[in-house]
Amino acid sequence: MTIADRPAPGDARSPGISFQELLDTDTHEVPEVLREESPGYFGSHDMAAERYTSRAWHEKEIDHVWSRAWQFACREEHLPDVGDYMVYEIARSSFVIMRSAADTIKAYWNSCLHRGRQLKDFDGHCDDEIRCPFHGFAWNLDGTFKQAPADWDFSTLADRVAEGDFQLPEAQVATWQGFVMINPDLLAQPFEDWVGDGAAHFERWDLASRYVEAHVAKVIECNWKISQEAFCEAYHADTTHPVTAKYIGNSNSQIDVWDNCSRVITPAGTSSPMLWYDVDPDEMMRAMLDTRVDEETPFDIADGDSCRRVAASAARDRWRPIVGEVADEWSDSEMIDNFDYTIFPNFHPWGSFNRIVYRFRPNGDDHRSSIMEVLLLSPFLGERPAPAPVHWLGPDESFTEAPELGMLGKIFNQDLANMGKVQKGLETSRKGAVTLSDYMESKVRWLHHKLDVWIEAGEQDGAANGEVAVEL
Ligand code: FES
Ligand SMILES: [Fe+2]
Repeated sequence: MTIADRPAPGDARSPGISFQELLDTDTHEVPEVLREESPGYFGSHDMAAERYTSRAWHEKEIDHVWSRAWQFACREEHLPDVGDYMVYEIARSSFVIMRSAADTIKAYWNSCLHRGRQLKDFDGHCDDEIRCPFHGFAWNLDGTFKQAPADWDFSTLADRVAEGDFQLPEAQVATWQGFVMINPDLLAQPFEDWVGDGAAHFERWDLASRYVEAHVAKVIECNWKISQEAFCEAYHADTTHPVTAKYIGNSNSQIDVWDNCSRVITPAGTSSPMLWYDVDPDEMMRAMLDTRVDEETPFDIADGDSCRRVAASAARDRWRPIVGEVADEWSDSEMIDNFDYTIFPNFHPWGSFNRIVYRFRPNGDDHRSSIMEVLLLSPFLGERPAPAPVHWLGPDESFTEAPELGMLGKIFNQDLANMGKVQKGLETSRKGAVTLSDYMESKVRWLHHKLDVWIEAGEQDGAANGEVAVEL
């Protein structure tokens, strides 16, 4: 297919070999979830730069999105024992995610009911109570009030405890694929409805049985959407990561959107259609393995064979000792392709063996910086290893200073070179808007479409009720 043959907007596809055509060459059975196509067209209009640069947008997102959306807070494995807790922060809000009983995880608003000090400053463990460090008010692990020092001086306290006033307020909690999800809005739809059919895609990949092998975090000098959108399309990869064009079909990616779930599937072992020359299989393999010019590649590709098939076979050999028969059952595609899912608004669990999970969020209350986190979820043999602690990279540290990321560190550094510069460029922009492609950047359009829907609904609710459902 050539550019001239390109279908009308709304059903556009990149020219070249499509992901679906590559699936036709797979040596193993391809699961239905990869055969599914669900393109979305959200218009061809420009979008205002102020979405990324203005304080007003940040406030709208706090009022109508972060206060009402399901969010990835931590993994279940971060809370192995009763009393273990993690502090999860989003914009101005903070929650204590606690295993309050062997089979129960709760999310408490991180604020003391005495004079409001945050209850927990760091991740940790409570033996049998949550005690505020300021004056010592204490709660049981299930959030019921336990005791206050000198309680004789609070004449109404006993009555108010009896009325339930001093129960620690909670957010909604759900668990899915080993992830602990929270929603501050007690009226929000259940998480399984939120994620919808997207959940079924992961049943096969079973991320619950993985462990956090690496967890790297860094403050990025740009709005959270700029960080997130640097990883929401593969269109940039031919230019920002030019070496990948030899072995990844960046501009042949398939983009699917559903309600609160979307994905970009980027095929590997095939070159980008944006290259002006053919890449022979050996050269493709060299690029894929980052092989130096004076080194031999460890794999021979026979005449007529493909880099894609040989790479998938090598991946099977690598995973077989750990995952067993699955390595010989799953498709070539699942062995080597990239399945970058996004669950609105900011949670990115990748499918199959790629192992990546991203989370992007505002850096506290600052709309001009964000926190980018990368987790690698790996299969394991025997007892589950402890999750890797968060490795915070400092302002002057790049991703290659997190060796646990392997080759990804180099790739992320190339993205890092753009993100802060996008913020600066948008703030000085005379045009005052961004122009997005119809299909390749449709996942970015989807995010903004969803934000518009939530903000509009929230503002209407607020106008009708005189306030929003939950204030952060
Ligand atoms: S603020 Fe928590 S005990 Fe006083
Ligand atoms: Fe990138």
